Amino acid sequence: MKFRDLGRLEGDLLIFGGPYSNLHALQALDQIAAEYPAKNVICTGDIVAYCADPAACVALIRTRGWTVVAGNCERQLQVGADDCGCGFEDGSVCDLVSRDWYAFAKARINSSDRAWMAALPDGIIFENRGQQHAVLHGGATDLAAFIWPTSPAEVFEAEVAAIGTPVDVVIGGHCGIAFEKQVAGVTWLNAGVIGMPPHDGHQQTRYGRLSESGFSVEILDYDYQGAAAAMGNAGLTGGYDGALVSGNWPSEQILPLELRKQSVGIEPHRRHKICRLK
Ligand SMILES: [Fe+2]
Repeated sequence: MKFRDLGRLEGDLLIFGGPYSNLHALQALDQIAAEYPAKNVICTGDIVAYCADPAACVALIRTRGWTVVAGNCERQLQVGADDCGCGFEDGSVCDLVSRDWYAFAKARINSSDRAWMAALPDGIIFENRGQQHAVLHGGATDLAAFIWPTSPAEVFEAEVAAIGTPVDVVIGGHCGIAFEKQVAGVTWLNAGVIGMPPHDGHQQTRYGRLSESGFSVEILDYDYQGAAAAMGNAGLTGGYDGALVSGNWPSEQILPLELRKQSVGIEPHRRHKICRLK
């Protein structure tokens, strides 16, 4: 995994993951990002995924010059692969609903975009307020690793060791759920994603701010009805269009048992605290 060292970033940071081709959400985030220097706006990858506007999302981010690490979707698209690289089990709901949007996106990303994606780093290292930070998409052992708030400490320890340089803070993405956790000798942050709600029954999505007072997960209000309508117009009606409106993912297969709404036999007090709407 290739890390790019940005040196020192001064001041507050805006952190977001997973635009997922959701231009309506990205435009809402763009309004907030205007408060920050471009390099202090950090995207944890997966610019392109489920929604209707892959090319426009890539174009907006390229224009802004924000700091971006590659997601598995960028890595797959840059080489013209046949799937999103999430590693979903063949024939699973996640696998089936991903086939349509991936083919749709692949047909709309041009050679210039693919070359830009290929030049994105796998990870980023920087200093902010005297602390060393690493930004990853999924993990350092595997760019597409799903690191959940409930993952065992050994998982976090392996990921931190794989970064290969001492860090105080790790900023991850990919799993779609925002969380903050003290583990493996670091503060592990995930700002969630802006392009899809966090499976909590609400339409709003998530981004993060890192400031002198710490990390905060923020709620992104945006035109979800417009985003869902754009998906309908594009023929992307496999399930994620409904998720924008219902606030719930089309499948829980990728989620650990304790994070599923349908989980059985796990008392509510044992569920790990994650960042949901109050
Ligand atoms: Fe991802």
